[in-house]
Amino acid sequence: MAELAMSRSIRIKGPASVSGIADVPGDKSISHRVAILASLANGPSQIRGFSSSVDCGTTLSCIENLGVRITRHPQELIIHGVGLRRYRPAREPVKLDAGNSGTTIRILSGVLAAQAFTSELDGDASLRRRPMGRIIEPLGLMGARIETREGKRAPLNISGGPLHAISYSSPVASAQVKSCVLFAGLHADGTTTVSEPAQSRNHSELMLREFGARIEFGEGGLVSRIAGGVEFLPLEYHVPGDLSSAAFLIAAVLITSGSHVLIRGVNLNPTRAAFLDVLNSIGAGIVRQNERIHHGELVGDLEVSSGRLQHVGRPTPVAGDIIPNLIDEIPILAVIGAHVEGGLEVRGAKELRIKESDRIRTIVDGMRALGADIEEFDDGFAVPGPQVLSGGNVDSAGDHRIAMAFTVAGLAASGATAISGAECAEVSFPEFYTMINTLTGGKAIS
Ligand code: S3P
Repeated sequence: MAELAMSRSIRIKGPASVSGIADVPGDKSISHRVAILASLANGPSQIRGFSSSVDCGTTLSCIENLGVRITRHPQELIIHGVGLRRYRPAREPVKLDAGNSGTTIRILSGVLAAQAFTSELDGDASLRRRPMGRIIEPLGLMGARIETREGKRAPLNISGGPLHAISYSSPVASAQVKSCVLFAGLHADGTTTVSEPAQSRNHSELMLREFGARIEFGEGGLVSRIAGGVEFLPLEYHVPGDLSSAAFLIAAVLITSGSHVLIRGVNLNPTRAAFLDVLNSIGAGIVRQNERIHHGELVGDLEVSSGRLQHVGRPTPVAGDIIPNLIDEIPILAVIGAHVEGGLEVRGAKELRIKESDRIRTIVDGMRALGADIEEFDDGFAVPGPQVLSGGNVDSAGDHRIAMAFTVAGLAASGATAISGAECAEVSFPEFYTMINTLTGGKAIS
């Protein structure tokens, strides 16, 4: 399967400040889901603000290979939905490449498990290392046959067919697992229930309801129920900006002096926004404006200013049930933590070890490479603060969030920083380097 080229090295000259107005790409999690649900609706959905990320482009290509027509216009996508269980791939078994995207492979598997054909889903070297037993188990209970070559990892060979409704208690708080079961449940012969140990992001539930699926879920709820076999209509959908991408810009402002940025139209769904709660607890200057509900999702603008970061009961604790609600922001939280009086400690985040890289390892390696003091735990790390980073050389390990987190760290460092394999930022945020370049007045990045 295609690997991202690992050649581009980015140099950052710190210290620099950032200022201006920024529009981040459309939310990646929401874009994957809207693409898949639109493909299952009866008729064409019009989607604006779709993520420019390579990951979401991968989901679109998979859907096209399943026989769904997609028309691309400069400002919108039209996805010509075919209805439930009516994908028509040109050949069988259909071979699909999920690239680097865990969300694509795990959520799409739930839909492929219900189709009357065989699919082979594969991905890049990073995706092939990630655990798939967490979706193979519930889909197997629903009646799907999924074979793997080595352990429970990609490539997945899915022999789809009629599915039975199940009641599934997921051992992990994972929105990918929950969404996989819900999307499979949409095709099953009764009501499927899925529960999780802590609440993960609820974009699938909110969107399924918008499309007209019969779904029940509570506020702050750990249980969702979906009725199978209910066909639904297409939708006009506007994807809000991605808070997980905005997080890098927010951090750039907070850790450099004299910085100020307005980020417009960002998704602020509480099951995704615990990053902002942690920043609030350290006195970060973030003002939420223009908040509104769109398609059930909370959206708003964020005005961010630099200033003193301090936690009273030190170090700032990041642990417990909020972990799933900021899991993707932990690499950049490590960088911020080094700039907080009292530092920051993350615990209970072992899931980080099975992301696009072993993120506990790559965070610790990156921080040390830039001259920071950090202690590694099996399930997290502790970073003392405040520290002035010296700069240095960091390898992205092909992980987009690692490349971006340490680029931001470089903006606050006293010396130069180089990130190798920096182009992997395109996995979620292709405009990242151009945007940082603009916000630093063209002075910091080469
Ligand atoms: C995602 C869920 C999270 C997150 C990933 C996107 C989603 O993964 O880390 O980047 O869109 O559902 P898990 O569900 O595996 O925790």
